[in-house]
Amino acid sequence: MREQLSDEILGKAYDSKLMKRLLTYVKPYKKYVVLAIFLNVFVAGLAPLRPYLTKIAIDTSIANKDYESLTLITALLFISLLFQAIMQYGLTYFTQLMGQKIIYDLRVQIFSHVQKLALKFFDKTPVGRIVTRVTNDVESLNELFSSGIVMVFSDLFIIMWIFVFMFSLSFDLSLITLSVLPALFYATFLFRRKVRESYRDVRFHLARLNSYMQERVGGISIVQLFNKQKRELKKFKGINKDYRDANIKSVFYYAIFYPTVEILSSLAVALIIWYGGGKVFESTMTLGILFAFVQYTEMFFRPIRDLSEKYNIMQTAMASSERIFKLLDDKTIIPDPEKPVKLSEFRGKIEFKNVTFAYNEGETVLKNVSFTIEPGQTVAIVGATGAGKTSIVNLLSRFYEIEQGEILIDGVNIKNMRKEDLRKLICVVLQDVLLFSGTIKGNINLNNSAIGESEIKKAAAMVGAHNFINNLPQKYDEKVQEKGATLSVGQKQLISFARALAYDPKILILDEATASVDTETEILIQQAIKKLLSGRTSIVIAHRLSTIQNSDKIIVMHKGEIKEMGTHQELLAKRGIYFKLYQLQYKDQEITKTA
Ligand code: UTP
Ligand code: MG
Repeated sequence: MREQLSDEILGKAYDSKLMKRLLTYVKPYKKYVVLAIFLNVFVAGLAPLRPYLTKIAIDTSIANKDYESLTLITALLFISLLFQAIMQYGLTYFTQLMGQKIIYDLRVQIFSHVQKLALKFFDKTPVGRIVTRVTNDVESLNELFSSGIVMVFSDLFIIMWIFVFMFSLSFDLSLITLSVLPALFYATFLFRRKVRESYRDVRFHLARLNSYMQERVGGISIVQLFNKQKRELKKFKGINKDYRDANIKSVFYYAIFYPTVEILSSLAVALIIWYGGGKVFESTMTLGILFAFVQYTEMFFRPIRDLSEKYNIMQTAMASSERIFKLLDDKTIIPDPEKPVKLSEFRGKIEFKNVTFAYNEGETVLKNVSFTIEPGQTVAIVGATGAGKTSIVNLLSRFYEIEQGEILIDGVNIKNMRKEDLRKLICVVLQDVLLFSGTIKGNINLNNSAIGESEIKKAAAMVGAHNFINNLPQKYDEKVQEKGATLSVGQKQLISFARALAYDPKILILDEATASVDTETEILIQQAIKKLLSGRTSIVIAHRLSTIQNSDKIIVMHKGEIKEMGTHQELLAKRGIYFKLYQLQYKDQEITKTA
């Protein structure tokens, strides 16, 4: 909750450092900016021209009954409107075009940066927050680029032009118009502060609503299974109500502010008519000037009102850009070496030398782990849950940096290899299989066109997945839902085996799922594993000891340390932890058999 709130805190409305950095994104589109400013000056100048033309029409043409000049001025009025419309179109189009192009670039940059970040970053960052950066935050920058920056110019230009015209027509009346400004500024100031607060509230409650929805929908089966719908609905109603009330509050401020501006502007108009009317009686002012002033006064308030909205846009954009830049500046990246070593010929020897590691400082997960896997060997790691088996695998793929010790592949420290080269060698079949939405085919070759249809089918056939895939209505083109929701656990496992085989890695790592599958699938999976392992250096993390009896070496982990190491027979002879584990499982099997 705190975290979310800190996410929503609004900083300064303008920060020159942030702005400077934001402007670097505008640089490639300089020509649009120049064009927009150019159009702006014209658009801004055209509107204030019209009251002036009206004044001439009244004072000169109408007063002198000059029909010809009246027609001319009417035509000019019409042309200026037409021009303004065309330029306005261009202005809107080009600024939006520029905004969209800029945020496209920004999204690409964020995504590519996020892909580079180390797992450590994702361990502590909720997915929702990253998604918000790419969607909401980037969107509010779009508003800044497309309407904010450029339109601020246009508002300022309009105000400037109106000033020029007003003061050239009448000094007294100009002062009267300006006399309401202090009240207007005060109203704007109050409005800005209130809206800022309520905006923060709205964002905060929206974030709550989103994360609540996300979590409950994600866990819908638990909600239904435990009959929690009513309770969840009640909670949701509460959160929803807070969100609604926050919105109503913010609408309330708008509802007060706009009429207030209207009243002030009408007040100014009334004053002008009252004072100017007297002057017209005295014949010290023409009717045309009075008429023009009424129009200028009305025209004058709109940009000022708009500017306070621009202020909000600016503020939101500043807060968003701060969050985006914080993400872009995150340096949780595992660096590649400056002079990477390339393995000229891969043999497949893996060595862990006194490796010590912690995910969080102070909580050691692996202590002084050392072992060697000879080329082509299959090594199994066993141990209780939480013993550190998956962590060993994570370190070999260099998902995390180790504090002490070294990990060598064919004698080369993995820190001296490029991550890309290292990971090309390794394929990990994860504990919980991850499938992407797409097709079965795409999930096997991960949309790598170098792995063609025939290779996909070959791999699937080898691991025994071909049969069930062939029975699907669309076969290899069958749609896979997000996370593979429509497939069974065993089917997902087989697909992930096929994926590993299709990529034909030099080093294969299997992190066995604890979930049980039926005996038939179990046999299929065992056969698949056998095929996967043959001819490569492999590490198998197993819970079912039956899987690993033929391994060249078995490593027994306990609380982050290696306690025993040897072949199945050697370890049994030792009568230590492995022996106990084996006995337990053996007994278990005996019980199920007799039952
Ligand atoms: P492992 O994930 O290495 O355990 O976590 P394991 O041996 O594979 O366990 P199973 O059999 O799959 O269940 C080792 C320790 O590291 C911590 C865990 O809390 C566990 O105590 N850990 C794991 C973290 O602190 N952060 C992580 O991201 C993962
Ligand atoms: Mg594990």
